[in-house]
Amino acid sequence: MNAQEDRTASMARTPSEAHTLFTEILESVPQAILAVSHEGCILACNRNAEFIFRIQRAEVIDRKYEEALPPALAQAMSRLIHSASKSGDSLDSEFDFLVERRTKLPLGISLSPILDREDRPRGFVFVVRDMSLRHEAQNLRQLHQMNLEFVHTVSHEIKAPLTTIQLGTAELLSQRTPLAEECLTTLQLIDAAAQRIQGLVNDFLDVAKLEGGHAALETELGDLGLLAKKMMDGFHHVQKANIELEIDRALPPVKFDSKRIHRALENLVINAIKYSRPPARIRVSVTREGDCVKVAVADQGIGIPREQLGLVWEKFYRALAPETTNVAGSGLGLTIVKHIVSMHGGEVDATSEVGKGSVFSFTLPLRRT
Ligand SMILES: Nc1ncnc2c1ncn2[C@@H]1O[C@H](COP(=O)(O)OP(=O)(O)OP(=O)(O)O)[C@@H](O)[C@H]1O
Ligand SMILES: [Mg+2]
Repeated sequence: MNAQEDRTASMARTPSEAHTLFTEILESVPQAILAVSHEGCILACNRNAEFIFRIQRAEVIDRKYEEALPPALAQAMSRLIHSASKSGDSLDSEFDFLVERRTKLPLGISLSPILDREDRPRGFVFVVRDMSLRHEAQNLRQLHQMNLEFVHTVSHEIKAPLTTIQLGTAELLSQRTPLAEECLTTLQLIDAAAQRIQGLVNDFLDVAKLEGGHAALETELGDLGLLAKKMMDGFHHVQKANIELEIDRALPPVKFDSKRIHRALENLVINAIKYSRPPARIRVSVTREGDCVKVAVADQGIGIPREQLGLVWEKFYRALAPETTNVAGSGLGLTIVKHIVSMHGGEVDATSEVGKGSVFSFTLPLRRT
């Protein structure tokens, strides 16, 4: 049926058919609906009102709502009627309804005046809805905020003494008088440990920010291939890794936040080096794939058992293998990668075979919808 036929059909509906349809609609909505006359007598209620408030329509119609309905509901209705008599507007409120003795169901209730054809007030209609989901969302938001504040406070408390340690070791290491070898080694160990703690604190803060949606992107149209090339040039100098780079010749420009994508790719390459037996052989590719640009990091390292592969993106997850536990890490790197990529509207992926190697990749869309 086209729109015109549909309109004609609805106009041809008899008043009785229209009434039936309207009743069916009221019976089908997920909210509880109750109508009350000006004198406070119940005029109508739908199936959900019967279900939620354990009432029988036949027993409550025409009775005063204060007598026929559960006290919590009746009191909420009285309060709204009282407020409406002052303001004359539609009103909203919330109340708790006790179900099964102990369980409190948070309900939202709103009142609207019922007007007849001449706009004369006839009574009130109440719509009652379940607020548990909204409350749960509010609680989660609050919990998340508390979590974020906690991470910030702890990070701040750690950073101050850490700076003192780092300044102290730097000063001792830069002294002109040569240090005894044992002393030097100990100081270098302290310095490396302090750097690791600093990295960990920064990762904590990043994850909290990314999870809370508090991190904004600074995107610009750019060349992902160039970003990868510059990074790999840096890696060749620092790491003892054999990194091959493959970049599509006609790579279209993509919109991305270069600092964050740099961080994501760096995390993948560092993992590829960390979880390979030296000298690591790594291949980084930046290619076009349909409507996306795909960045992949393939290694010939230790690999990840199939049943653990899906878990590596989870916060703090580290694969259960001696080769992993021997390497320093906190299990936050891939979580950060996943957040950064999904903020760009892209997707992450990983394939792996134990003893043969892994391919970690992400895509960035050429056009964001
Ligand atoms: N290329 C890889 N090869 C084998 N295992 C890997 C590889 N990349 C990640 N993993 C596994 O996934 C886990 C999670 O990686 P992730 O980068 O999140 O944390 P991490 O490297 O342990 O610590 P960090 O927070 O310092 O990055 C690692 O502990 C490791 O078990
Ligand atoms: Mg890592």
